[in-house]
Amino acid sequence: TNPPGLGGGQDVHLPEKVWGVYAQPGPSLEPAKAIKPIDRKSVHQICSGQVVLNLGTAVKELVENSVDAGATNIDLKLKEYGADLIEVSDNGCGVEEENFAGLTLKHYTSKIQDFSDLTHVETFGFRGEALSSLCALSDVTINTCHKSAKVGTRLVFDHNGTITQKVPFPRQQGTTVIVQQLFYTLPVRHKEFQRNIKKEFAKMVQVLQAYCIISAGIRINCTNQVGQGKRQPVVCTNGNSTVKENIGAVFGQKQLQSLISFVQLPPSESVCEEYGLKFSDAPHNFYT
Ligand SMILES: Nc1ncnc2c1ncn2[C@@H]1O[C@H](COP(=O)(O)OP(=O)(O)OP(=O)(O)O)[C@@H](O)[C@H]1O
Ligand SMILES: [Mg+2]
Repeated sequence: TNPPGLGGGQDVHLPEKVWGVYAQPGPSLEPAKAIKPIDRKSVHQICSGQVVLNLGTAVKELVENSVDAGATNIDLKLKEYGADLIEVSDNGCGVEEENFAGLTLKHYTSKIQDFSDLTHVETFGFRGEALSSLCALSDVTINTCHKSAKVGTRLVFDHNGTITQKVPFPRQQGTTVIVQQLFYTLPVRHKEFQRNIKKEFAKMVQVLQAYCIISAGIRINCTNQVGQGKRQPVVCTNGNSTVKENIGAVFGQKQLQSLISFVQLPPSESVCEEYGLKFSDAPHNFYT
């Protein structure tokens, strides 16, 4: 019989090739194609989709960059749950003019120089991939003013991470990264992304909440605007100096009542005995 949907229930004769395409998922009888390298631009496009997987990753990468830049204030503005716009502004160190071109190039980073540096890396990022991937997947603009610069600069990038526009742009010290139409260069991903935007948004909020909690001393504020409506608050912290206060800011003061602080104590003699350890061997200085 014919494959479903092809013949309207009647037995229509199909040429063998068409039949094969629909009905035989097994090994192809066609001769194997030659193995060839994919062109560099396509490789970059495909791999960028593996670095920035979803809205949560995009936001995470931008927040991490702001924290790495020493920011104490990070402001996130989303439009249409992030599908139209993700704008992350910080008051970090800003980017120096000599680093403008390297900002968005693949594997260009200010954080490590070689593999051995990884053992003492103290920043979230070090691969030099995030901004270059975001350029490949969306329209990226960066406004920045380094602490040593007299005036800020607005930089517009193409999908290869090359600067296409560079104009003076007055702003205070810090950096704003603007990502528009995330994933529009990958049509299938883009469609799925838009279809699932509410779920994507909910997952992103969880990621952001985690960063809000661990970022003591950093004020993070995120809003979302739908259509021409008012900007709705999403998550907000006040730059508190403790994780506990941040938990209160994110989940409400009431939640703090149900928290039990985690205290590390050296094992007692009876606990050591239970585990077959010598009390004198237990690393007592470890639990301070
Ligand atoms: N908000 C920012 N303020 C100041 N400099 C920034 C900011 N965002 C990015 N940069 C600079 O741009 C470089 C590239 O950023 P990108 O996120 O692409 O790579 P990375 O942070 O070095 O590594 P990773 O890909 O692991 O995040 C950074 O190394 C940093 O020097
Ligand atoms: Mg980074």
